[in-house]
Amino acid sequence: MTTDFASSSETRDMSLSPVAGVGKARRGLHMITWGCQMNVYDSARMTDVLRPLGYTPVDNPADADMVILNTCHIRDRAAEKVFSELGRLRVIKDERRAEGRETVLAVAGCVAQAEGEQILKRAPYVDIVLGPQTYHRLPEMVARAARAGGSVIDTDFPAEQKFDFLPQDAAPQTAGNVSAFLTVQEGCDKFCSFCVVPYTRGAEASRPVVSVLAEARRMVAGGVREITLLGQNVNAYHGEGPDGGVWGLARLAYALAEIPGLDRIRYMTSHPRDMDDALIMAHRDLPALMPFLHLPVQSGSDSILKAMNRGHTADDYRRLVDRLREARPDLALSSDFIVGHPGETDEDFEATMRLIGDVGFALAYSFKYSVRPGTPAAGAPLQVAETVKDQRLQALQALLREQQDDFNGSVVDRVAPVLFTGRGRKPGQMVGRSPWLQAVHVDGSDDLVGTVCPVLITTRLSNSLAGHLIEECALA
Ligand code: 5AD
Ligand code: SF4
Repeated sequence: MTTDFASSSETRDMSLSPVAGVGKARRGLHMITWGCQMNVYDSARMTDVLRPLGYTPVDNPADADMVILNTCHIRDRAAEKVFSELGRLRVIKDERRAEGRETVLAVAGCVAQAEGEQILKRAPYVDIVLGPQTYHRLPEMVARAARAGGSVIDTDFPAEQKFDFLPQDAAPQTAGNVSAFLTVQEGCDKFCSFCVVPYTRGAEASRPVVSVLAEARRMVAGGVREITLLGQNVNAYHGEGPDGGVWGLARLAYALAEIPGLDRIRYMTSHPRDMDDALIMAHRDLPALMPFLHLPVQSGSDSILKAMNRGHTADDYRRLVDRLREARPDLALSSDFIVGHPGETDEDFEATMRLIGDVGFALAYSFKYSVRPGTPAAGAPLQVAETVKDQRLQALQALLREQQDDFNGSVVDRVAPVLFTGRGRKPGQMVGRSPWLQAVHVDGSDDLVGTVCPVLITTRLSNSLAGHLIEECALA
């Protein structure tokens, strides 16, 4: 594994800012989360590990004794964004100090991993810098920062698995939630030309089956009805099974589907190369496995796919989609796309547009290629001009928008099972999700939360659907 960004765990005397001591007093914790669902999950777990120290979530950073900025490094100007947010937080920290209250300021996540030293140099008022692999050590870092009166940096890739150190008694952060994320796999060994993840999240690692199942059961006992299994390469999951063997994601999905009360299972993000027969068959066999799959293809051009080191062709992807739809005919797909990868010609871009036309996506995320220092594509010749990237992105997004609208329109006048998750914006309105991840609004009461009810979809709105309940739903 490349270790460019790895540094060791150490306490440094770079800041004179004292931090709040350790104890059981009630303290406010304000969490700012950027980036992917994995970061959302990590933020929830950081909240969990800090709870025994007396930290409880607060909405306003001015009320917080600790602020954690959980960062993302995947695309453009990540570090700039962090420094500008830190500038804002510094003002709050200074104001609170003037009132005699201290604030622990922590930077977590992938920018912390990649640029931890830089952060402490440019923003010495930051107390703690921690990478995504070390948040189970947060309580210890808080204590060390308090003792040392200086900054603490921990961007190790420790030998122990952070998951083994998380609170086991409950999953407090998911209490009251109907839908929850559960990280089962982390890191990536694929080394796509453009991507920083293998450097910031480290090598691929899977949690043991027993620990995943236990966490899922705890979530369900707390009222969760839908679990989204998370991993940078979630379908490369290869966890140690209770039988001592290695379980793939399909086998894990079958075991999860046995948990009473767990109505829906999803997983993301998948790589086309790891979509094996067993997983395709799981989509055929398991009604709980939702018919919506995020399967990024990035490009539809074989030469760009090769340059990206994706390990498959555009036709491989088309064939894979055919097989998935054979197994689960109502399966909808979403994808990520990058335009303007180094070397991308007009023809390459047209090939991407053709692939989109052939597959038909229910949802997609598309990005202009952005240089990530240290990745292979960063130094590649034939970088594409910004104006060309802009034009391509516009054309691509127009096509994808059309497909998304068509897909959402295709469920109008149909009945869909909706899992209700909470109140809508308008009074008397409730919101839930269709199997295809669409937000659906109906008139209804709080009793609906946590239940799956059939809804007649009547209207397509710009980013959601509206409908009405077609029968009384049994209460959860
Ligand atoms: N430039 C643009 N998009 C990127 N992604 C990852 N790295 C880059 C980059 N350097 C996109 C990919 C990936 C998604 C999470 O972010 O499409 O699937
Ligand atoms: Fe990044 Fe590629 Fe790994 Fe996805 S598969 S995390 S894009 S290196």
